[in-house]
Amino acid sequence: MAFELETKRLSLGPLGPADAPWHLELMGEREGGTTRTLDEAKGRLIELQASAAANGIGFLTVRRRSDGAPLGYCGLLIGRATLGEPEIAYELLRRYHGQGYATEAARAVLAAATATGRRRLWSTVRTWNAPSLRVLAKLGFRRDHSETDGRGELLYLVRDLR
Ligand SMILES: CC(C)(COP(=O)(O)OP(=O)(O)OC[C@H]1O[C@@H](n2cnc3c(N)ncnc32)[C@H](O)[C@@H]1OP(=O)(O)O)[C@@H](O)C(=O)NCCC(=O)NCCS
Repeated sequence: MAFELETKRLSLGPLGPADAPWHLELMGEREGGTTRTLDEAKGRLIELQASAAANGIGFLTVRRRSDGAPLGYCGLLIGRATLGEPEIAYELLRRYHGQGYATEAARAVLAAATATGRRRLWSTVRTWNAPSLRVLAKLGFRRDHSETDGRGELLYLVRDLR
C-alpha cells in the first residue's frame, strides 16, 4: 500500500521510532496511565516498522496539515484477519476526537487498500465502542459476525472494496 497519503486536512506517513513521544502518550490514555518507557515505545515502533516493510501494509502517522501536529495513527494490519483481507485500525489522542479526523484518515487508508487490488477489509471492534462503530458505519462497513471471549463480545465488520 502507499505509505504517504494526503487528505484535505491531514497528511499520513510511515510510523517510526521518531513517533515515540506521542505514541507513549496515546498508550497512556488507552491504559489509564502507562508504565512504559520512551525506549520501550521506540522498540515497539521499530517492530511495527519492520512488520510494515515485510508485509507491505502497516500503520501510518496521522498529522494535521495546518500545524504538523501528530494526532495518532491509522492503517492496515493482519490482526485477526489475513494479509489479503486485512483489518483497518485507528487511534487518536483524546484532544483530537470528535472532529471527523478518524473518518477522514480511514477513508484515505481504505482508498489506498483498494488501490492495492484488495477486495475486502475487516475491522474487529468491541460492542461498547460507539465512536469506532460510527466511523466504520460512515465508511460503509457492515456487521458480519461476532465472537465472545473473556472480554465480552467482539464484532467483525467487513467492507467490500471496488
Ligand atoms: C475511534 C476514534 C479513532 C474516533 O476518532 P474521531 O476522530 O473522534 O472520529 P470521527 O470524529 O471521525 O467520528 C466519530 C463519530 O462517532 C460519533 N460518536 C462519538 N461518541 C459517540 C458515542 N458515545 N455514541 C455514539 N456516537 C458517538 C461522533 O458523533 C462521530 O459521528 P458523526 O460524524 O456522525 O457525528 C477515537 O474515538 C479513538 O481514538 N478511540 C480510541 C481508540 C479506538 O477505540 N480505536 C478503534 C479500535 S477498534
